[in-house]
Amino acid sequence: MWDFAGRDTAIDLGSATVRMHVRDRGVVCREPSVLARSRETGRILALGLPAREMAGRNPDVTIVRPIREGVPTETEEAEYLMRHLVRRHHKRHHTARPRMVITVPSGMTSVHYRALQFSAYQAGARHLTLVPTPIAAAIGMGMTSSKRPEIAVIADIGADITDVGVIAFGGLVTAHTAHVGGSAMDRAIVALVRREHRVALSPSAAEVAKLEVGAVPPLDRRPVREIVVTGRDLATGMPRGIVLTTLDVGRAIAGPVARIVDAICTGLTGCSSEISGELLHVGITLTGGCARLPGLERLIREQTGLEARPSDDPGDAAVLGAGEVLRSAGSQEPSARISSPRPSVLTTVPEY
Ligand SMILES: Nc1ncnc2c1ncn2[C@@H]1O[C@H](COP(=O)(O)OP(=O)(O)OP(=O)(O)O)[C@@H](O)[C@H]1O
Ligand SMILES: [Mg+2]
Repeated sequence: MWDFAGRDTAIDLGSATVRMHVRDRGVVCREPSVLARSRETGRILALGLPAREMAGRNPDVTIVRPIREGVPTETEEAEYLMRHLVRRHHKRHHTARPRMVITVPSGMTSVHYRALQFSAYQAGARHLTLVPTPIAAAIGMGMTSSKRPEIAVIADIGADITDVGVIAFGGLVTAHTAHVGGSAMDRAIVALVRREHRVALSPSAAEVAKLEVGAVPPLDRRPVREIVVTGRDLATGMPRGIVLTTLDVGRAIAGPVARIVDAICTGLTGCSSEISGELLHVGITLTGGCARLPGLERLIREQTGLEARPSDDPGDAAVLGAGEVLRSAGSQEPSARISSPRPSVLTTVPEY
């Protein structure tokens, strides 16, 4: 018998990390969304973690990031990444084509919509459902369903985008997507180090500094920590280590952090007066990797006047929700069949 359900897959195709969820097994994959391509032959040499390890180390390799701002910009590479990660993380080798649920930015354009549709079907999808990230994250945290009138406010702050959604009855009341996230903070740290120390830092070294000592000022009682990062001295070309403190990182990331907070404010302004009144009681739930940046929730609280808190599992919230959509859709599909290759953009949760 065909075991379609065995390969059905929920995917959060993040700009930095691809996450996959498989029923009964949970989140089976959290891999960097990168490929390593040979400059000489054009062949793809590695993907995910092994590819990221080659970055800047192997002169024959160029690193491709096929997902930018939450959508596939290099469709062939995105398809390759999806197909191989699905294969790598499914233990059995099925001949069946999987159903896929993929999270997408709520402000996705029709061009990107078609690019993702193309990549997913090329990667072997039998049926595709696209779920806006804020809805997926709210489902993942059990905050919404098609039968529940309660409002949920999600701000998903990832690597490339901040996606804000106000959700009721499992659907988007209003949403806003801004092209700013953790990668913009890393670039800002690289720029500060170049400006103030005349040292060229790699974005990954900047990210390490952000993760290790980063915080949004003012620090209050939070300790000032420091880290030594190494880059290339612009004058001599030699390696040089410099010390970055929590204050340096906080100063560097102030611009992107302010744009993230602006995006959240914009996302809240489209609500009706009935819902606006309720937001005060509901507060904002933060998901995505940057939800963990110390001090960010306090700044959001100050700027919006609403309670803000990171969710329990901010990184996985969206893919867990996509998995839940797949599970509930599974109980509605009577039999395994090839459905028309036209995906549905889901703005409400399927009945369950
Ligand atoms: N503890 C932390 N503190 C600060 N930033 C963090 C932390 N953990 C992860 N990040 C940042 O979160 C970002 C990755 O978040 P996430 O995995 O949600 O992104 P993504 O889903 O791949 O991207 P996007 O949703 O923008 O397409 C990176 O910039 C990473 O540096
Ligand atoms: Mg994301």
